[in-house]
Amino acid sequence: MLAGIRDILIITTPKDHDHFVELLKDGSQWGISIKYAIQTKPSGIAEAFIIAEKFINNEPSCLILGDNILYGAGNIKFLQEQAKSRDGASVFCLSVKDPHRYGVVSITAEGKAMSIEEKPENPKSNFAVIGLYFYDNNVVDIAKSIAPSSRGELEITTVNQIYLQRNKLTVNQLGRGAAWFDAGTHESLVEASYFMNIIERQQGLKIGCCEEIAYSMGYIDEKQLERLIFQIKNTSYGQYLKTVLKTNFQEKEGAETLYENV
Ligand code: G1P
Repeated sequence: MLAGIRDILIITTPKDHDHFVELLKDGSQWGISIKYAIQTKPSGIAEAFIIAEKFINNEPSCLILGDNILYGAGNIKFLQEQAKSRDGASVFCLSVKDPHRYGVVSITAEGKAMSIEEKPENPKSNFAVIGLYFYDNNVVDIAKSIAPSSRGELEITTVNQIYLQRNKLTVNQLGRGAAWFDAGTHESLVEASYFMNIIERQQGLKIGCCEEIAYSMGYIDEKQLERLIFQIKNTSYGQYLKTVLKTNFQEKEGAETLYENV
């Protein structure tokens, strides 16, 4: 939402589909559109583009992995620029101590990508590729053209390797101030929760609050936010949204300052 993307497709397992629909609805409450699709088997991340072919409709797209949590990834204008880009692929990397668990990219001192590998035994660098990807409109054809890996999945890293071979892969290195969690295990989910809790309590601001983002980005107006608050007015979340409304962050300047580091 912060990147200015308002057309979202959520791809879930068959079992989780109804829960997501119940929770997030069609997005109109936040001034966006949310559609849903199902991946019947865990056949790999790149299959998302095949499932989403009609939705993507030959436009550029952004893929976010549902278990990835990112904080302090640079300013919002940068993300908005990435979302508008119509040429090549753009990925993000961050230095980690256990790169063999992830896609690993090696880059030159100037930041040019040299190689990208999925969970290598002997990583060429410490740079893990995080689960946020921007692609031009070639991504669907590329995803259709690749073969499953030895773990039987259509790997997102294979897609990125093709962009790299075509000299169309941009790697953005996140600085030390950024925090990234692949919260796909119980332990990492707990870690991410602790982190978010500490930041939120200290700042008194919520991270990834859809109502607040919708309001600050101008996707919904004051009246719409008031209606959302009314439904949950007796909860602490509702109280928080009341302060958002009062502070009136909808002024463009305010929104940018507030979200500079989210
Ligand atoms: C996936 C990708 C990997 C990426 C990681 C980020 O790994 O295949 O390249 O670094 O997400 O979370 P997986 O979740 O399939 O292990």
